[in-house]
Amino acid sequence: MADKTFEVRESFAKALAEVSALTDLDKLRVEYLGKKGLVTDLMKDMKSLSIEEKKTFGQAVNVLKDEITEAIAAKQEELKQREIELENSRMPEFDITMPADLARGSYHPITLVQRQCEEIFKSMGFTVEDYSEVVTDYECFESLNIPKNHPARDMQDTYYLDNGQLLKTQTSAAQNAIYKKYKDQLVNEGKAIKAIFPGRCFRNEATDACHENTFFQMEGVMVDRNISISNLIFFMKTMLSEVFRKDIKVRLRPGFFPFVEPGFELDISCLICGGEGCPSCKHSGWLELCPCGMIHPEVLSAGGIDPEEYIGFAFGLGLTRLAMMKYGVKDIRDLNSGSLKCLDQFTDDK
Ligand code: DAH
Repeated sequence: MADKTFEVRESFAKALAEVSALTDLDKLRVEYLGKKGLVTDLMKDMKSLSIEEKKTFGQAVNVLKDEITEAIAAKQEELKQREIELENSRMPEFDITMPADLARGSYHPITLVQRQCEEIFKSMGFTVEDYSEVVTDYECFESLNIPKNHPARDMQDTYYLDNGQLLKTQTSAAQNAIYKKYKDQLVNEGKAIKAIFPGRCFRNEATDACHENTFFQMEGVMVDRNISISNLIFFMKTMLSEVFRKDIKVRLRPGFFPFVEPGFELDISCLICGGEGCPSCKHSGWLELCPCGMIHPEVLSAGGIDPEEYIGFAFGLGLTRLAMMKYGVKDIRDLNSGSLKCLDQFTDDK
């Protein structure tokens, strides 16, 4: 019987020497140690032996089994190591002393302005919300007090999907969802709703230097008890002064938007001529930047907020316009051009 363990040991050693891949090694393991393997077979042979013989033979088989298990584990390590070395040898060699390639990508000017505005509003306690580009008619118009066939829809023709949804024409489309999301906090915890939502908007426009079919806005809302137009002016003035890194003069003019009452156009004093009047501000000394107003009671109601108890302001900052002003971009189409020559000249500190 001892010969038998010897035979198995010999044949295993031979087979192991020939193995050069991990998959073959596993096959070998099954061939010897598996349920129907050669070592297991040896155990079966023991039935015919005397008790004494069983003891010595059993021990011999166990020793063999341990030897084979260890040999397989060692071989496995060796093969893995060899694979790593092979992989490394295929890697391209590089010279770590070579100077780094400093031609890096850069952020889009709109991204830069958007992030800057986000930081400023966050520091004033606003949350930054994310919102879909595809919205329903209800979100984009009806919940904003713009019923079907309202003439205010004419200025915001857009791209409709077969299922009746549309590409949002204005970030105001997120207002309804924001009110619903935070109304319980407002009522139960007395926590004011303060949120901004930047996003891409789409309109079916004929494009020129000032108009694009795809542009960015940043909507903002604040709802609480006792909010007034002064709060609105304060927040807008602070934000714009931070963005332009100088004190900015603002003024409000009446403006019509169905979702605010009263509604305003917020102008800033022209940054190019300092308010003296120049071609950029059409000699008025003022630039139109941010429509805004006190949120219409119907819009609050649609968002589940009682307009008898709460009041708020909303604004729709033209992020694209802001970026153009900040970086002196004269043609809006450059921003969507994908031209790196044009876009990679902007950095955060310009
Ligand atoms: N959504 C408007 C537009 O794109 C801009 C706007 C006006 C937003 C007044 C507001 C607002 O939040 O109060 O034309």
